Amino acid sequence: MKSFYVTTPIYYPNAEPHIGHAYTTIVADVIARWMKLEGFDVFFLTGTDEHGLKLQRAAESKGFSPKEFVDLMSGKFKEAWAKLNIEYSRFIRTTDSDHEELVKKVMKELWDKGLIYRGSYSGWYCTSCERFYDEGEYVKERGRKLCPIHLRELEWFEEETYFLKFSKLTDYVLGVLKEGDVVFPRVYVREVISKLESQGLKDLSITRPKSRVSWGVEAPWDPNHTIYVWIDALLNYLTGVKYYEDREFFRKFWENTHHVVGKDILWFHTAIWFSLLKMIGVDPPKKVIVHGFILTKGRKMGKSTGNVVTIDDMLREFSADVIRYYLMKIATLDKDAELSLDNMKEVYNSELADTLGNLVRRLGVLSIKKLGGEVPKSDVDVEVKEVAERSLNEARREMKSFRFSTATVKIFDLFRFLNAYMNKTEPWRKERPTYELYNSIEALRYGTSMLWPLMPVTAERIAGTFGFNIVEFGNLKFGSTEKFIVTEAPILFRKKN
Ligand code: MSP
Repeated sequence: MKSFYVTTPIYYPNAEPHIGHAYTTIVADVIARWMKLEGFDVFFLTGTDEHGLKLQRAAESKGFSPKEFVDLMSGKFKEAWAKLNIEYSRFIRTTDSDHEELVKKVMKELWDKGLIYRGSYSGWYCTSCERFYDEGEYVKERGRKLCPIHLRELEWFEEETYFLKFSKLTDYVLGVLKEGDVVFPRVYVREVISKLESQGLKDLSITRPKSRVSWGVEAPWDPNHTIYVWIDALLNYLTGVKYYEDREFFRKFWENTHHVVGKDILWFHTAIWFSLLKMIGVDPPKKVIVHGFILTKGRKMGKSTGNVVTIDDMLREFSADVIRYYLMKIATLDKDAELSLDNMKEVYNSELADTLGNLVRRLGVLSIKKLGGEVPKSDVDVEVKEVAERSLNEARREMKSFRFSTATVKIFDLFRFLNAYMNKTEPWRKERPTYELYNSIEALRYGTSMLWPLMPVTAERIAGTFGFNIVEFGNLKFGSTEKFIVTEAPILFRKKN
């Protein structure tokens, strides 16, 4: 069986997860579930990034020890993902012992290879991003230096550190980025390439003095230093697929690695990550799938901006499936998307209540009323069959290129067609409309399989209602169902005012 490895960034658990984090995680979950239906053996990794100054400070300010704090907060991420039906293979924490071991081993390997040297570093640091910003990268405002993402004042640090010899790898990274199509959508790669071409890769400061940042993995060669949180974090992708523990497992999944990341962390997931991998002799990932931001009031949703919509806020208004559907519908990776509850309500009413909900209700009611809940096999309506197959082929094509929004349209085209088919053939006027109902439910079976990655609870409910199973796309064959046993006619979505 072919393997597929998909990851989310690991989140800083300094605060509760919000809809921006949910967006990244849902994108990855939908990809993971879709690839399962494509017949792949999928490994889906998510988790929390628990070391570093940001977490150290957040714990202090709440009066917790760092470990107590991250235990509590990583639990909140797990709870949120359970509520949103995220089906991960492993939830990794950078405080997990196998991960800390891996970080030490990789760092030791680099030290033994002579790729790390001692020096000192000074620069402007954003603790929210956990990175330094160079002149020209930060925002200047009335003499203050602000982080371009968080618009918060940067801090000046000047200290002893160890550097990793990245500077020789500029051409290597440029080669990977220019020759292949590793970054998707391509628009995002330009900025990375132009930075690499104009400035090149610099040696990276990869440790912090323990006196300042004690909450981290200790550098194996110097107990007075901890490993820089971004290096620690990136390596989670190797721990997740057992890099040291089980080489066969690692090789199987690594060759088809897909990292889903927000556009703010692309530099780390290309320039820094590819260089680090090269140094230990590992190929770059197959794809880095990049998305824009979820905005509220025109700005990136985030704790530091103070415009957060929490997952619980959203769940009070809409079910997990509706949130998942809506975020995937607005997920055009190359653009930022404003979260609008009004727009969400509109989509809910027209697509979920009127189109899908109405279709399921009508088919349920008619099957029970006209056929006593048993819809036997009948001749195939060639037009219905063609539309179902076309919708499946088109949705598969769109999803292959991670065009989620268009994929949702292709799936809902089928539901729209089926409502129109019912209006045209008027099965309610016939005594035994077996032909119309069998063909419609058979097409609904196609639609429901495609819907499952996006709306798993709804899809399973529909499958249960009509007595069919959700199957891999390759096993869908129109007209192969012997009979449908219809037990109810649920109202899946009640219209909202
Ligand atoms: N810990 C690092 C990632 C390390 S991965 C080896 C980090 N964490 S984060 O919690 O700040 O962000 C994690 C992800 O959430 C990023 O991909 C980021 O783009 C995404 N988002 C955070 N806020 C977001 C929005 N408002 N909208 C969309 N995605 C957002 O960076």
